[in-house]
Amino acid sequence: MKFDILTLFPEIFDAVLKESIIGRAQEKNIIEVNAINIRDFTLDKHRKVDDYPYGGGTGMVMMAQPIYDAYMSIVEKLDYKPKVIYLSPQGKLFNQSMAERLKEEKHLILLCGHYEGIDERIIEEIVDEEVSIGDYVLTGGELPAMVLIDCISRLVPGVLAKEEAYLDESLNNGMLEYPQYTRPYEFKGRKVPDILLSGHHANINKWRRRQSIKRTYLKRPDLFSQLNLSDEDRKLLEEDLR
Ligand code: ADE
Repeated sequence: MKFDILTLFPEIFDAVLKESIIGRAQEKNIIEVNAINIRDFTLDKHRKVDDYPYGGGTGMVMMAQPIYDAYMSIVEKLDYKPKVIYLSPQGKLFNQSMAERLKEEKHLILLCGHYEGIDERIIEEIVDEEVSIGDYVLTGGELPAMVLIDCISRLVPGVLAKEEAYLDESLNNGMLEYPQYTRPYEFKGRKVPDILLSGHHANINKWRRRQSIKRTYLKRPDLFSQLNLSDEDRKLLEEDLR
């Protein structure tokens, strides 16, 4: 899977995306990430990429032309059209199911805005989807782009050590993950639940499911209300809460 990022700050992606799991996935050529500097495509002798807003007001607006030319430098070599995502607080809220859908794309172009925004016509001309990572305002789309790349990449087969590695965890099946423990058996007087030392896998799985349901109920009632629980699950939850 390929990610091209259109940005004014290509350097800041290296620190995050060259490390750890995403870094390894790039070395193994399972994913490819390129940051393209929009400023390299300005026609202005001062390398200007923004200008005053028509109609007045504070702040600057990113001009359409350098963004468009940066975009064209990617797509003119292709015989397909990659999906273009503009990171913006006005976009649709990013979540795990959006990540699952986007991992099916072979090529994403992530457009990072800055200043007060970008010329509306570039959104109309090239953007397929506007995506927000949360209801708060950041100084630019770079951190959101990294969030998308990290979250989508780990769903791409081969990026995690085992594909199953992501099947059990938080937000799969819409539930939070069960509690995890490692050695030592006792820490500050707190012991690991005995069931986890029993070696009885069916019982351990049952216990974990029960913990997931209980946690989701207590910590994320918004997610809990969307779960399709069996009568048996509901009974166990009531017992746990008693
Ligand atoms: N750009 C600025 N704030 C943002 C947000 N919350 N999500 C995506 N892009 C943004």
